Amino acid sequence: MAVRLGDTAPDFTAETTQGTISFHDWLGDSWGVLFSHPKDFTPVCTTELGYVARIKPEFDKRNVKVIGLSVDPVDSHVKWEEDIAETQGTPVNFPMIGDPDRKVSDLYDMIHPNANDTLTVRSVFVVGPDKKVKLTITYPASTGRNFDEILRVIDSLQLTAQFKVATPANWKDGQDVIIGAAVSDDEAKQLFPQGWKTVKPYLRVLSQPNKK
Ligand code: BEZ
Repeated sequence: MAVRLGDTAPDFTAETTQGTISFHDWLGDSWGVLFSHPKDFTPVCTTELGYVARIKPEFDKRNVKVIGLSVDPVDSHVKWEEDIAETQGTPVNFPMIGDPDRKVSDLYDMIHPNANDTLTVRSVFVVGPDKKVKLTITYPASTGRNFDEILRVIDSLQLTAQFKVATPANWKDGQDVIIGAAVSDDEAKQLFPQGWKTVKPYLRVLSQPNKK
């Protein structure tokens, strides 16, 4: 069964490169990113994991824990991590789930048989501190993901969880935002006394509320 936005992220207990993890307990009050890669000792995956390791401080700053997964076992991940450290310049600094019995892959519908019937696709799930799924993305095996985009979406998710705003196309942290469509002008006056610009009655633009 597909995992959809707003669902509670399925909980599981799994072996990882950092020991046994129970997903919800491990998340605690943090946000989480669970992402799958198709196979160990493959080139695109090697670059992805190296990149995530390099930008991990950006996830930490946002109170986000990251965890990887493939259907290969933990001992394979551990051996592969030596190559990742050697070739990508940063050791893998987050847990990687070994899922040879596909328990977690099946729980999150990460195997798409018409693409490949044994390997996971490149799935990304962002989970909020309430354990609800906030974002799902699926890439094919041949395309490495843009993890800067995932950080950008997390910035939007965290902002829109705090304020009744939405973020426009290609928005980046610090840029103007949009007052949510469900917010009346009367409510907006209470929420945003600093004012906004009405481009159309349905398009009201506001400086990002938590920035000076
Ligand atoms: C890769 O990471 O390079 C890869 C993995 C599985 C299939 C195709 C590419």
